[in-house]
Amino acid sequence: MSTDNQLKFTVERHSNPTPAEQIAASLVDPVFGRVFTDHMVTIRWTEGRGWHDAKVEARRPFQLDPACAVLHYAQEIFEGMKAYRGADGKISLFRPGENAKRFRASAARMSMADLPEDVFLQAVGALVDIDRDWIPGGDGSLYLRPFMFAAESFLGVRAAAEYIFCVIACPVGAYFKGGKSAVTVWVSDQYTRAASGGTGAAKCGGNYAASLIAQTEASANGCDQVVFLDAAEHRWIEELGGMNVFFVMDDGSLLTPPLAGTILPGITRASIIQLARHEGMTVTEAPYAFEAWRADAASGRVRETFACGTAAVVTAIGQVRHAGGEFTIGNGAERDVTQRLRTLLTGIQRGKVADSFGWVHHIA
Ligand code: PLP
Ligand code: COI
Repeated sequence: MSTDNQLKFTVERHSNPTPAEQIAASLVDPVFGRVFTDHMVTIRWTEGRGWHDAKVEARRPFQLDPACAVLHYAQEIFEGMKAYRGADGKISLFRPGENAKRFRASAARMSMADLPEDVFLQAVGALVDIDRDWIPGGDGSLYLRPFMFAAESFLGVRAAAEYIFCVIACPVGAYFKGGKSAVTVWVSDQYTRAASGGTGAAKCGGNYAASLIAQTEASANGCDQVVFLDAAEHRWIEELGGMNVFFVMDDGSLLTPPLAGTILPGITRASIIQLARHEGMTVTEAPYAFEAWRADAASGRVRETFACGTAAVVTAIGQVRHAGGEFTIGNGAERDVTQRLRTLLTGIQRGKVADSFGWVHHIA
């Protein structure tokens, strides 16, 4: 639902903005999430007053009371999206309305204030506009991080009566260091990410906090990401710590775990499903067991496996490690379907492939 709820933003430009040469230097192969632009957008929400004090201002630290609710009960949600500079110089966002909708769904699950979709889009658009010089060309992009947290100073356990919504941005290149052609994943048989009735489908910080122990285990085992299995049986593949997952079968069809409330409904996932079907491929959303994946990788029934998400785009999974050993996907080299889908998706995002779905949203 979109309302006609435009807010008036006060714009206070940074008094000492980063010089052009320094911006140019920071756009060369930036490490994901380390370099930030000059500005941020903030909007406050107070019970009885609603959304107010919308500002575009210089990026600065927040001043928080030690009793600020988010520091205690983790009432926080976020989004991840990217702004692209196309080959023609035009600036665009990819399906931003879907992020705005998911943000509302996450807020509802976490009992937080409802941010109208058009205000979310206005805020994101305002930051991209003021920090447009920070959008890399080529394969880079400007990663946008809208988020909201409980800002009330109160230690009682209940939904807060004050929230701050904020958008920050950072120029990014590949999520995985060195832009690896395939990553290695760790299958966690001990830790799960989300249970039925929990917050798995919401993009809340707590889900990621809970996943970090498994990510640490993955790194200790030389892996890039964790594959989480379901919480009830520790059997069914759900998703990765920060990405959804697809399997390419030997008949050329795609298989991906269904959205049953425990995994994040990825916008890249939904786009891949639509794109693949448009290309004539069969896509099945069905539970797939870890044991089946292992057996199918060995028999050749699974040819490719890939992770997808805003940060990771489409990244092949080459090697799978788990407590009982490891296996390789396919012959380790042929990744035709993964490559084709990646080329199509990034082509649409960057204006190189016709956007037959109306996904690209230009920023004037
Ligand atoms: N799953 C998790 C846990 C994620 O953090 C992400 C990234 O946002 C995704 C899936 C993919 O979602 P999207 O394609 O909307 O970026
Ligand atoms: C994103 O893709 O936006 C995510 O939130 C995932 C995380 C790995 C940064």
